[in-house]
Amino acid sequence: MTDWCERYGPWALVAGGAQGIGAAYSRYLARLGLKLLVIDNAPAALAAIGEELRSSFGTECIALEMDLASPQLLERVHGEVGAREVGLLICNAALADVGPFYKQDTGLAFERARIAVNMVAPLELVYALGRPMLARGRGGIILMSSGAGLQGSPFYAHYSATKAYLITLAESLWFEFRPYNVDVLACIAGMTLSSAAHAYAHLDTSGFQTPEEVVEEAMLALGRTGSVITGEANRHNRQLLAGLPREQQVELISRHAIQNFLGGVVPPQNLDEDAD
Ligand SMILES: NC(=O)c1ccc[n+]([C@@H]2O[C@H](COP(=O)([O-])OP(=O)(O)OC[C@H]3O[C@@H](n4cnc5c(N)ncnc54)[C@H](OP(=O)(O)O)[C@@H]3O)[C@@H](O)[C@H]2O)c1
Repeated sequence: MTDWCERYGPWALVAGGAQGIGAAYSRYLARLGLKLLVIDNAPAALAAIGEELRSSFGTECIALEMDLASPQLLERVHGEVGAREVGLLICNAALADVGPFYKQDTGLAFERARIAVNMVAPLELVYALGRPMLARGRGGIILMSSGAGLQGSPFYAHYSATKAYLITLAESLWFEFRPYNVDVLACIAGMTLSSAAHAYAHLDTSGFQTPEEVVEEAMLALGRTGSVITGEANRHNRQLLAGLPREQQVELISRHAIQNFLGGVVPPQNLDEDAD
């Protein structure tokens, strides 16, 4: 039986920990007795989760409001962490959307921000907080990814590329950090009823997971493997897809996006260069 505080304590940092799957991590870890440093850019939700963690679990909680895309991320994190030992890092936040690669409403600046939130922030946090874990000979890191990162995912193109980055980074570090007793995991989630669940209101959500289910599976997989696909239905679908030629996998994923989120219509690319 894992002694979570000894293995991953005393502090856990959850980046994007105020809502959705991130909030479920924050609650799960507080329940285990870890102290929480929660970073999020949603002030009301951040204040609410901080209050909840203190009152429901008696947990010490530092709530740090900031944009993970900020170039000052590490400076602020170092300032808050100080001499505290962060034994568990959860990189949860992501910029996600669905649509053609060239969108009407967002341009290259948004795609750069996506890289900053989905890739640079996890890289920086792992780089800064992972090394002290290795030196201490204990710790854990979870990078939140998505089934969209397992193959090309049309209409989630850049999002899926950032999620693929996290899978290969986590699996590689799982191997490299293992001799130092530091566990690394890519948590590959499927459709989850998170804070964006309103976007799924028109769908049959019976096969979807709750944030709590995703977190439970991730925490149980940490230390056992380098990546986990959460949810029985997601694992089953992945197995079916994996048996098909790569092109067919990509096409099926495109159909999922078109039917469920794009009104059954292939969206046109925005050819107006001035939009950027
Ligand atoms: N939900 C799904 O169906 C699903 C499926 C597969 C994988 N995932 C992955 O699971 C993770 C969590 O997803 P989720 O749906 O639970 O997300 P969520 O409900 O939106 O929660 C993420 C939290 O991170 C915050 N955040 C986002 N960008 C931030 C930034 N730049 N700086 C600081 N905080 C930021 C969000 O605040 P704001 O809302 O104010 O931005 C929110 O509080 C993501 O990595 C996602 O790719 C989700």
